[in-house]
Amino acid sequence: MLKTIDLNGKRALITGAGSGIGRAIALRLAEEGMKLALVGRNAEKLMRTAALTGRPLDMLVLPTDITQSSGIEDIMHILEGHFKGLDVLVNNAGMALNCPFEQTGEAEFDRIMALNVKAPFILCQRTLKLLRQSECPTIINIGSVVSHLGYVQQAAYAASKHALLGMTKALAKEVYHEGIRVHMISPGGVYTDMIAIARPDLSPEGMIAPEEVAELAAWLVAHRGNAVVDEIRLHRVNKEPFQ
Ligand SMILES: NC(=O)c1ccc[n+]([C@@H]2O[C@H](COP(=O)([O-])OP(=O)(O)OC[C@H]3O[C@@H](n4cnc5c(N)ncnc54)[C@H](OP(=O)(O)O)[C@@H]3O)[C@@H](O)[C@H]2O)c1
Repeated sequence: MLKTIDLNGKRALITGAGSGIGRAIALRLAEEGMKLALVGRNAEKLMRTAALTGRPLDMLVLPTDITQSSGIEDIMHILEGHFKGLDVLVNNAGMALNCPFEQTGEAEFDRIMALNVKAPFILCQRTLKLLRQSECPTIINIGSVVSHLGYVQQAAYAASKHALLGMTKALAKEVYHEGIRVHMISPGGVYTDMIAIARPDLSPEGMIAPEEVAELAAWLVAHRGNAVVDEIRLHRVNKEPFQ
């Protein structure tokens, strides 16, 4: 039976909540009455998201670089102190890189892996003990079509998003029997700041709206049934599916 969960008062941590997909997810989950921990490096962008929810006092603004272990420790202390637990983790923060393979520097490779793979890995690891105490423990990792496909000049980005998919699959199996659901949403081109860097060749026309991704995230969090959704791929309307 499909059970709808009342999200009012439930707690979510969203990384990259100051812009794009992360902000859209924050606004959508806030509509459900959730309390949110908003994470990103830029405090002003996070405060803008908090203000847009219309309930800024229910929002924790946590300006943090999640590639720094000290940053993740700070998040954990504040979560345990203020939220006294966690129901939903959304690993959304990420970076793209559009660069020919041979010109991709080691430092850039390390940076993209630290943000797109290691940070979600550590955040999952550190929050599991809090999620175990929740009635609706859910992790949503934001992958990409690049989790499944290779595009030219995106080897480092593809490597990072393939790695995130691998981690998601393994973790989903490892914690499924504890009632913790781990999903991945893999969008194609979404109209955000990032797309200009990742795919300067694409026009905004026909792009997925961040709100479409947010709607799916909210559905995943609010519904539990016998059918477990492991991964959702979203294709742009002007691109044929299954490519
Ligand atoms: N746009 C697309 O077409 C598309 C398609 C598929 C998947 N995605 C994925 O969707 C996710 C969100 O991307 P977006 O399109 O919404 O782009 P975006 O607006 O650039 O969002 C990226 C977010 O990550 C945060 N961030 C970056 N480095 C960080 C760090 N070290 N610590 C904490 N936060 C950090 C940024 O905030 P600060 O700069 O304030 O830190 C920003 O809010 C990414 O994982 C991306 O790979 C995007």
